[in-house]
Amino acid sequence: MERVFQINHPLIQHKLALLRDKHTEPKEFRELVEELSMLLAYEVFRDLPSIEMEIETPLARSKARMVDGKKIALFPILRAGLIMASGILRLIPNALVGHLGIYRDSQTLSPVPYYYKLPPNLKDKENIILDPMLATGGSAAHAVSVLKEKGAKNIKFVCIISAPEGIKTLHSAHPDVPIFTASVDEYLNSHGYIVPGLGDAGDRLFGTK
Ligand code: PRP
Ligand code: URA
Repeated sequence: MERVFQINHPLIQHKLALLRDKHTEPKEFRELVEELSMLLAYEVFRDLPSIEMEIETPLARSKARMVDGKKIALFPILRAGLIMASGILRLIPNALVGHLGIYRDSQTLSPVPYYYKLPPNLKDKENIILDPMLATGGSAAHAVSVLKEKGAKNIKFVCIISAPEGIKTLHSAHPDVPIFTASVDEYLNSHGYIVPGLGDAGDRLFGTK
């Protein structure tokens, strides 16, 4: 699949196995989502521009390279994307954060937007949408459309588990947006849940069921 980056690192696969396990409780589940997001970030930000500067070590002046965190905007899709953002903020604390409040209707499976709060000037930013689950792809495709309407050009979508159906939907609507994922699972069941998946990400993160 073009522009789908499945990251098969053994540490990612190990943490993903723990995350899928139905016995994993919310505290550990949140820690795993943070850790997985940090590990995925290593690939997502591989081509991030860096600025040359001079620093002083205890021994000498030296050239060094640093990234400008303020050029990066993270967009967690509420609720589950919030914990991915908190993991990546540990690596890039100066990144800006825009919130995308979207849930999917349990009957129609269509995305229902309810809240946006976005940073300005998305045109100049690396815009990273975060959601652990890409299921039908409705929420992700909607999120990308919102950012494009606000002028965003450079957009990536990062998830932990994706379904083939969601990848197809997102790429049909937005072929320019690369997808980073730890796993492409088998299929969606009749209720729109990813199989084998991990269940409802929001409920498992926040203990709401
Ligand atoms: C989940 C998940 C995604 C969406 C994916 O959120 O975190 O946002 O479903 O499904 P889709 O690809 O079919 O659109 P949910 O709608 O359950 O919202 P919530 O976590 O706020 O309850
Ligand atoms: N949303 C989830 O949280 N899990 C799924 O499997 C599908 C959508």
